Amino acid sequence: GRASTLNLRSEVGDIMQKAITKSFPTLDDGLVSKMTRIDPSPVAHFQTAAAIGLSRSTGKTTDEVVNSIIQSVDVGENSIIHSILVNPGNPRMEIFLKDEKVAAVVQHMAKLRETSEGDHRLCLKEILQTDQPKKALVDFGSPNMCKQLHVGHLRTIILGDSICRILEFMGHDVERISHVGDFGLPVAMTIRQALDHDMDFTRPGALEDPTRWPTPSHLTQIYAEAKKRAQSDPSFAERSQKTSKSMQKIDSAEEEVRRSWHVLCASSRRGFGKKVFERLNVVSEERGESFYAPLLDGVTQELIDKKLCVESQGAMVVFLHGHKTPVIVRKSDGAYLYATTDLAAIKHRISSGKDWIVYITDDGQKLHFDQVFSVAKLAGWLDETKKVIHIGTGVIKSNFSPSPDVLILTDTEGKKLSSRDGSPYPLEDLLNEAISKVVTKPDLLQERKSQLSQLELSEAIAFNALKYFDLCHSRDYIFSPESMLSFKGNTAVYLMYAYARICSVRRNLTSKGEHIISTSALPVFTEPEEMALSLALSRFPEQMLNLERTLTPQYLCEYLYDVATKFHSFYGACRIVGEPQQESRLQLCVATEAVILTGFHLLGFTTADVI
Ligand code: ARG
Repeated sequence: GRASTLNLRSEVGDIMQKAITKSFPTLDDGLVSKMTRIDPSPVAHFQTAAAIGLSRSTGKTTDEVVNSIIQSVDVGENSIIHSILVNPGNPRMEIFLKDEKVAAVVQHMAKLRETSEGDHRLCLKEILQTDQPKKALVDFGSPNMCKQLHVGHLRTIILGDSICRILEFMGHDVERISHVGDFGLPVAMTIRQALDHDMDFTRPGALEDPTRWPTPSHLTQIYAEAKKRAQSDPSFAERSQKTSKSMQKIDSAEEEVRRSWHVLCASSRRGFGKKVFERLNVVSEERGESFYAPLLDGVTQELIDKKLCVESQGAMVVFLHGHKTPVIVRKSDGAYLYATTDLAAIKHRISSGKDWIVYITDDGQKLHFDQVFSVAKLAGWLDETKKVIHIGTGVIKSNFSPSPDVLILTDTEGKKLSSRDGSPYPLEDLLNEAISKVVTKPDLLQERKSQLSQLELSEAIAFNALKYFDLCHSRDYIFSPESMLSFKGNTAVYLMYAYARICSVRRNLTSKGEHIISTSALPVFTEPEEMALSLALSRFPEQMLNLERTLTPQYLCEYLYDVATKFHSFYGACRIVGEPQQESRLQLCVATEAVILTGFHLLGFTTADVI
């Protein structure tokens, strides 16, 4: 279970809270705990500005508050606090920990790494494993049929995978779902177009013979033509609408529509599933919109019965406070919409016992999810025990001008590229570009003791770099293969370099005939670089709890960068093998290794074998 004693920050919080309650016994406990926020400090280990709020609530000056708290702080033998520094007039209290308490966390992590069997990337898991696992569903990486994956999909796939990994690591039960767009007008239009042209894949027997399936680019092309035609040919548009509606009861749809639909889904799936998800080593179960089709009538009826859904110009809609336009549940021609499917999906997910539902799409769908969540609350499906969130990703931009070694992902205004505006940048091309960039950098591929072929190696490095580059940005970013593969700065390569150094320390040790790294003695640190690294490492549990709360892998990247930076400084300043401090320093190395390997795992890196 979760070892609270390893979480130094929360332990400091507890001690400070006790001291405050002792100083001001009449204050409400809830208020005290709210005010006692502990932050990392640039000069000490932690700091707190609790005195500001307390001075307001007690009517005393901040100096008076600070002084009385300091009198009450436990610095006894078992306390982790060594001392607190204050300057008159400054309400901030700078908290210093006892070195041996920080060292004990490092020792514990080193021990877990050295005794772990099997996958070392999971060696720290037991510190954080919850004993109250939640049932989570993460809805991510959900492309639409008939269209190639484009660069925009990269973000939801990578972010979604990392969020799943974080929740799994913390001990939750995670279901990964791709809510693919296998229904609706775009799909129906494509089918109509193909049927009108009597394309081979619409004829009997095509499903059984993959050689007759359309290629992803052919599909994209048929869809584009259909879309264009619908604009100039009203009867085609109308027939497509009808087909779309008939597909809502797919089993009773026309035979040729049903047949073509299966081929179209199978060939789209072959196009995006295998090639991209597998290459990126991301697992997700496809449960497309069509899965919920049988539930749409019932959900609509329930909303009508609950008097949430009302008629408006022939359509059935839900009006929401604060929203100008209502949510359309059923159109006047009887067709359901994207929102209806999501209403059915959320109800289905809640009733199948999910506690947390996380949706990941681009920012453009924020309003859609706000509305779906609001209706779900009004309908009584959601309550406070459920956590339902939408995480919007930014956009990948490029402001490069055309040249052989850059990618053009957007127009010069940075306008998002989508397959619907006719100029998709296929995700596969991006992956291949990243690989070819690695191949041109021999220093990335040098001296690797890997079993992998040169191509596998390049692919692994490229994808790690790409994933990291994507995850370390919270919002829109400019794609730059150069900075993505840089040895300096916050990159995957910089982290992999730290790991490579640790591996070389291990080899160096082995070559001297020493095979065991002892973690039995509490390490002692004296150099400032050792102290800085050990403190950064000791923050691991607190960082993980924060990640679980915020589901923001960007924070993980920041943390890993901090650890790697401090490791590189330590490595530069302190000799390790053969020194009197060898045992302490080796513990620092392997604790760092444990943290970095955990990071590789949570960010979805391909095997550490690439280093
Ligand atoms: N297929 C949609 C798209 O490509 C994303 C689906 C997201 N998930 C959901 N439950 N609506 O934009």
